[in-house]
Amino acid sequence: MQNLYLIGFMGTGKCTVAKVFQEDYHMKLLEMDEEIVRQEKRPISEIFATDGETYFRDLETELVRKIQAGSRQIVSCGGGAVLRAENVAMMKKSGKVVLLRAKAETILERVKSSSDRPLLNGNMNVEYIAGLMEKRRAIYESAADLVIDTDGKSAYEICKEIMGG
Ligand code: S3P
Repeated sequence: MQNLYLIGFMGTGKCTVAKVFQEDYHMKLLEMDEEIVRQEKRPISEIFATDGETYFRDLETELVRKIQAGSRQIVSCGGGAVLRAENVAMMKKSGKVVLLRAKAETILERVKSSSDRPLLNGNMNVEYIAGLMEKRRAIYESAADLVIDTDGKSAYEICKEIMGG
């Protein structure tokens, strides 16, 4: 089995679904944001504030380059990891790319209590989330080998749907 890359907007359940894959399919779990935080020894919000978004995106590209060399990994990608075409190309070459989607209302419920998503700090509302999602929609959809709508589904159901069961 190749790698499985879960992509999609913040709060679409990538981490939760990835954990089910780790437990039920014994895949190696890689959470991109966590890896970057571990490597940089500081939170995402601090990376953005001190070094800017481009620096963070460079870290993501470097990380995808490392990840693609492995196999049988379940990768929970940062919401913006597919914004660079070169990242998408590396993902597609080394695995299957699955897009998780959710309604803006669902996303807001899931992300509103966190302050470590710099793009949403000060923008915690349905209108902003829906607008940014719409801006990214074509990129997400063209990167995906499979698209899953997650609203109202459990992580286990989503996992089964991805595996075609
Ligand atoms: C981002 C999503 C976040 C994190 C960073 C930027 C984005 O990851 O990488 O805050 O641009 O959508 P999650 O999707 O895991 O929240």
